[in-house]
Amino acid sequence: MFRGLMAQINENFQKLQAGYLFPEIGRRVAAFQQSNPKAPVIRLGIGDVTEPLAPSIVSALHNAVDEMGQRADFKGYGPEQGYGFLIDAIREGDYKSRGIDIAGDEVFVSDGSKCDSGNIQEIFGSDTIIAVTDPVYPVYVDSNVMAGRTGEVNEQGRYEGMVYLPATAENYFMPEPPTEKADIAFLCSPNNPTGTVATREYLQRWVNWARSNDAIIIFDAAYEAFITDPDLPRSIYEIDGARECAIEMRSFSKRAGFTGVRCAFTIVPKELTGSNSKGERVSINSLWNRRQCTKFNGASYVVQRAAAAVYTDQGLKETGEQVAFYMENARLLREGLSQAGFTIYGGEHAPYIWMATRNGLSSWDFFDKMLSNCHVVGTPGSGFGPSGEGFFRLSAFNSRQNVEEAIGRIQKHFGR
Ligand code: MLT
Repeated sequence: MFRGLMAQINENFQKLQAGYLFPEIGRRVAAFQQSNPKAPVIRLGIGDVTEPLAPSIVSALHNAVDEMGQRADFKGYGPEQGYGFLIDAIREGDYKSRGIDIAGDEVFVSDGSKCDSGNIQEIFGSDTIIAVTDPVYPVYVDSNVMAGRTGEVNEQGRYEGMVYLPATAENYFMPEPPTEKADIAFLCSPNNPTGTVATREYLQRWVNWARSNDAIIIFDAAYEAFITDPDLPRSIYEIDGARECAIEMRSFSKRAGFTGVRCAFTIVPKELTGSNSKGERVSINSLWNRRQCTKFNGASYVVQRAAAAVYTDQGLKETGEQVAFYMENARLLREGLSQAGFTIYGGEHAPYIWMATRNGLSSWDFFDKMLSNCHVVGTPGSGFGPSGEGFFRLSAFNSRQNVEEAIGRIQKHFGR
């Protein structure tokens, strides 16, 4: 083995297939724009909100900034887990309202679900077997590759040692729990990227699987606000037994336009345990707390005040209207693209449309065609995993005008 004088790198990073998906798309779009500076590109690629912050949030931000400028109200470091006022608003607004009891010390406020979902793997052993649905939000896979929990990528684009559960049209993009061994499974509902949503019965099968296999579910509910049917579960804790086997993550990014503000939270119930090499049960809540206290100094006070404003009557009304606005975009995309003859999934309880490409085009070839012919940016399905090949994701986050314009261009170019 080569042992030079310089610092050795974490070679697990070299297993990663390419750059992170969204910067890679950004690079291709920038290259296209460089050679076609006049092309009016519409971005429906990365799911990034476009509506400005709601007035009640802006005013909470202003007030909090004013407090920070007063000697009497100024705050330095806050609690690593988040301020009590936000934690209580979360417990009441997101959980008690649906009959779920979450204790204050089970809530961990953070600056984003991307970080939480990438960081959570740190508290688990290095030979933990990870299961993911495929296609999947790339962070769950890449963070575990970086941590050395997989081998190299194979020719199907799968990392050795990771369990992939194909999400296909045949299983309505909702794969069943694995039959092979897995210790941790990442689930996301409403799903990014397929835009489909889990039913109560489906989640119950997962919880039953986790409990009978001593496994843990990491449930990413970043898009729960987009569920339009009140009978569908919004939290995994609506499912019997989930407190013993599931961690839940939620975000203010999409539900309240916080992608540039940054605030999210993770719930770690106290019943949840893992085992050490001696076979002793260890609290996952206390490990996560230890990890956060060491590596995180909390989301900023100003931002947490803004997040708490989401739960006021006015905040709920205003952010609810924004969600409804994006969901109307999703409806228009579904309708317009179906009219153009595309097979469409998702977009009913999620801000993402998952569409099959045409004429056997690969996801990236379809991406290039969309970009060069329609000047519309989407996300190639294969970027989310090998089973996403032949699919393409469109995000409903944009202005009405841009969404209508994009639909018109796609219908003109691809319409039948
Ligand atoms: C996406 O487009 O998948 C999301 O915006 C990515 C994210 O939330 O990090």
